[in-house]
Amino acid sequence: MGLGYIGLPTAIIAAKHGIQVTGVDINPMVVQMTNQGKLHIIEPGMEEMLQEVVASGALKASSTPEVSDAYFMVVPTPFKGNHEPDTSYVEAATRAVLPLLKEGDLYVIESTSPVGTTDKMKDLIFAERPELEDKIYIAYCPERVLPGNVIYELVHNDRVIGGMNEASTDKAIEFYSHFVTGELHRTNCKTAEMCKLTENSSRDVQIAFANELSLICDKAGINVWELISLANRHPRVNILQPGCGVGGHCIAVDPYFITADFPLESRIIATAREINNYKSLWCAEKVHSEMLKFELANGRKPWVAMMGLAFKPNIDDLRESPAKSIATKVMQSYNNAQMMIVEPNVQEHNVFKLTDYKEAYEKADIVVFLVNHREFAELNYRDDLIVLDFCGTFK
Ligand SMILES: NC(=O)c1ccc[n+]([C@@H]2O[C@H](COP(=O)([O-])OP(=O)(O)OC[C@H]3O[C@@H](n4cnc5c(N)ncnc54)[C@H](O)[C@@H]3O)[C@@H](O)[C@H]2O)c1
Repeated sequence: MGLGYIGLPTAIIAAKHGIQVTGVDINPMVVQMTNQGKLHIIEPGMEEMLQEVVASGALKASSTPEVSDAYFMVVPTPFKGNHEPDTSYVEAATRAVLPLLKEGDLYVIESTSPVGTTDKMKDLIFAERPELEDKIYIAYCPERVLPGNVIYELVHNDRVIGGMNEASTDKAIEFYSHFVTGELHRTNCKTAEMCKLTENSSRDVQIAFANELSLICDKAGINVWELISLANRHPRVNILQPGCGVGGHCIAVDPYFITADFPLESRIIATAREINNYKSLWCAEKVHSEMLKFELANGRKPWVAMMGLAFKPNIDDLRESPAKSIATKVMQSYNNAQMMIVEPNVQEHNVFKLTDYKEAYEKADIVVFLVNHREFAELNYRDDLIVLDFCGTFK
């Protein structure tokens, strides 16, 4: 259920390993493209595999689920306006397979979910189908692949598998053993749910520490990149790199699934979210004030190059991107700003007019490095420019 960035590759890999798969999605475009062997997501090497499994009949896509032996919920779990997790997609997908469930079936949630979601879905299933109690297997198995490296990681990464009971864990492990060569770690569903949230919250907290250091260093007149590199010479210290905030659909989202349910206990996790969000505002204000200073000193508006829009280096994904929000904030707050927006991984954007990175660097009075894309490493440092380096391009 769900043929997105995670569901589709999972369906393809399973089909490639001899499993007969029906991939279900409510988006007709996704179903149509998949059945035509066309990949609707960007993932290197995946389209050839899709064509192979569609041609062999091992995978077919459909807008409604069919009777199967195992069902996997791989639908979105966004948060609502107040940062409360929205599990309505998991519930809708579960309701869609409910009438098809039969004795001996396996039901697995892969979507990143708040603690207790698997138990809630279990209660929902047994409330509607009480005759299935103790007759089906229910488990939670989160995904931790890196987009861009999915073919390798789906197979080789370790997985954490938590069943509602031992028999469910066994059944889910038996399924994933068909195509996962990484280790399959047994636990219960709550621990498996929390494990996924913990992994991303851990990254968020560690990045927040680096971002906090960057704010302190800016005030103290210390180069934060040099500081971190020196501190990391300690054999037991490993500080991450600061940036212009934290984005993407995982690290900037999943910690809220903990803070929403455990607000009193999750103080570091909540503060890390605040620090990482604040870092973007701080960057936008820094750019704005450099623009005002330039205008006062030179009697004209500066040309500003915003280098990077993606949420991390060398990708084209702009979801929840702090760089994008900084560029937007500066444009909105500065009257008639002369901005050049650069994103070498995107050809065209429906909101931003994009400029080539070399051209922008050449023309700019103020250059703002927001994302450490590999292309920017080719640029020579120019001391006739005002450089705001938020991501360590010129460390
Ligand atoms: N993308 C990642 O890198 C990643 C990594 C780890 C975990 N996750 C988690 O995996 C889950 C899925 O993420 P994704 O990136 O694949 O999302 P996605 O938005 O790319 O895909 C989800 C798909 O589900 C479909 N869908 C929605 N409701 C449906 C329903 N009721 N029945 C059938 N299909 C339905 C949508 O049309 C969409 O195509 C989320 O919980 C996410 O947090 C994502």
